[in-house]
Amino acid sequence: MKLQASTRSNSSSGGVPLFEKLKYTWQLLKFRISEPGAMDFAMQIRNEVAGVAAIYERETGKPASQARVLEIGFGPRPQRAFGLTGFFKDVTAVDLDAPVMRLSDLVRVFRKNGLERGIKSLARYALFDARQWSTFHKVLTESTPHYRPDAAKLVVGNAGDHATWDQFGGAIDIVFSTDVFEHILPAELEVLLTTIRSRLAPGGIVVTRPVVYTGISGGHAVSWYPQNVDAQTDGTTAWGHLLDPDFTINTYLNKLTRRDFVELFKRVGFEIRGDFAEFGRMGEQWMTEERRAALAHYDDYELFSNRVEFLLR
Ligand SMILES: C[S@@+](CC[C@H](N)C(=O)[O-])C[C@H]1O[C@@H](n2cnc3c(N)ncnc32)[C@H](O)[C@@H]1O
Repeated sequence: MKLQASTRSNSSSGGVPLFEKLKYTWQLLKFRISEPGAMDFAMQIRNEVAGVAAIYERETGKPASQARVLEIGFGPRPQRAFGLTGFFKDVTAVDLDAPVMRLSDLVRVFRKNGLERGIKSLARYALFDARQWSTFHKVLTESTPHYRPDAAKLVVGNAGDHATWDQFGGAIDIVFSTDVFEHILPAELEVLLTTIRSRLAPGGIVVTRPVVYTGISGGHAVSWYPQNVDAQTDGTTAWGHLLDPDFTINTYLNKLTRRDFVELFKRVGFEIRGDFAEFGRMGEQWMTEERRAALAHYDDYELFSNRVEFLLR
């Protein structure tokens, strides 16, 4: 893994109070304790990145093993970026914040990213990361012959800035991101997309998977995460983020609808080659007649949007 830094110039969750963010983080961590085991998780990531390579090959007719991929928003644990090295010739990944790979990184996180990010990272590291990385690398090595995590180039910077792209060292054939675009201010997202479009290699593609606001998981409440929808026993708060005027969540969300995303992609000049809700009509069992009536100004395209894969050219 090579790590490069550039100037930090925006935030994905501005305006949410520190205490609220820490409370939300604790809920997320509790949720992660109940996640599938480390091996299953590693296989999930492996299959996800294999799917990204398959999309690239299907769409372009070229081998992923000859292509350069960029992941935007790798998050504190860059598993997808590492996994992508098993399929692509060259992997670059960028995030506003530095990853936390080992205990010593926490000092840097506290110093560079402040108290909030430091506490979040410390909790995550202590509870999971130290144990899970070895399993992750083992599973990926065994299941992906070309896996070479050390080859992933991690860049700290804003993917909307041309100066950040200057560090990538060549044209990018495919841009990929998961759970990122819904966290970026609309105006910043437009700048980011414009930058991507102008810097993508000729014939390049974008595969992005935001959790769209109008779907049942769109409010990012832990109880309505896609993994938890079927396990709920009470649907009172389903689509609560659209229905309850007092609904708040402790992470920044731009609240773009699925149509807003489509319009934005088109405005920037992308052709939309795919628009696919990953979990189908997830949450349909919680769509009572009463709730449907209250949500009458949204159609099924929006309400069953969940995590949507947009494929752009
Ligand atoms: C909700 S996290 C998702 C992380 C990871 N993709 C995952 O699914 O676990 C969103 C990430 O996007 C990053 N991000 C937001 N805006 C960005 C930008 N303009 N450039 C690079 N990274 C950005 C944030 O720093 C954050 O780590």
